[in-house]
Amino acid sequence: MKDRPAASSLPVGTVSGAAGSVASMEVASSGGALTSSPPTARPQLEELIRVSLGLPYVSSGKEGIETGNHYQSVSIGDAKTSGFRSDRSAFLNRVDFRGRKVLDLGSNLGELSRSARARGADVVDGFEYDPFFVEVAHLLNAYNFTTRVSFFQRDITDPKVYVGHYDIVMAFAVWTYVRPILSSISQITEALLLETHNLNGNLERDYTTPISRFFPHTTVLGESDWGRTQDPGGGRAVLLCAKTGAVLEQALAPTAT
Ligand SMILES: C[S@@+](CC[C@H](N)C(=O)[O-])C[C@H]1O[C@@H](n2cnc3c(N)ncnc32)[C@H](O)[C@@H]1O
Repeated sequence: MKDRPAASSLPVGTVSGAAGSVASMEVASSGGALTSSPPTARPQLEELIRVSLGLPYVSSGKEGIETGNHYQSVSIGDAKTSGFRSDRSAFLNRVDFRGRKVLDLGSNLGELSRSARARGADVVDGFEYDPFFVEVAHLLNAYNFTTRVSFFQRDITDPKVYVGHYDIVMAFAVWTYVRPILSSISQITEALLLETHNLNGNLERDYTTPISRFFPHTTVLGESDWGRTQDPGGGRAVLLCAKTGAVLEQALAPTAT
């Protein structure tokens, strides 16, 4: 067993560990009671998140489709990072998440999951194949004090992962994986919020027609961007699809009058 340093060798008021020293605090000389602000690991946690986002990592996924590190732009407290994708708040604002149970497919760094929760979702589960993205999503939850948002390493092409019931399933930029599994998804939800891949006059043929077999009612919430680089043109669309007209109505955020 490794020897621990003697307590007296540590600077007073610092906690030492692998991640370095946690913010120092004043300790009263008698009894060790705190006399000023409590310690915080937030600066170290932020640094860890930023280092993680900066790693030259490319996930190759189950099918060998690559996703670069830092795909999503994320909130670290009040700061916003610049990932490959820009913010998609405008589309999430169109959806009524209040009190809903939500599943986020291909949840990446968890930004859309946390955004759904911030808009009132009761609970959000995110399924993500890549373990490193799941890890960073957890770090971001911790930093942002996020509650009731959980991430699971899951293969969304496996029908067995679709258990339980969700009010809304989100499938942003994961069409390749969800297209063959729409039947399983339709068994656990009545509403699907989906972002297409880059469009090329194929919205109806490749998206709304196959989706309508399971979710016959669709409204287009708008056009989203491809990403910050390598834009092949065309852009994407964000669709809200539902089994009935009433479900579609209920899933839309009330408009300000
Ligand atoms: C293009 S990104 C979209 C991320 C997120 N939905 C968004 O729009 O910001 C695709 C995500 O799906 C994940 N992914 C790829 N194959 C998957 C699989 N079989 N099961 C679960 N997630 C998968 C990738 O690791 C990546 O995080």
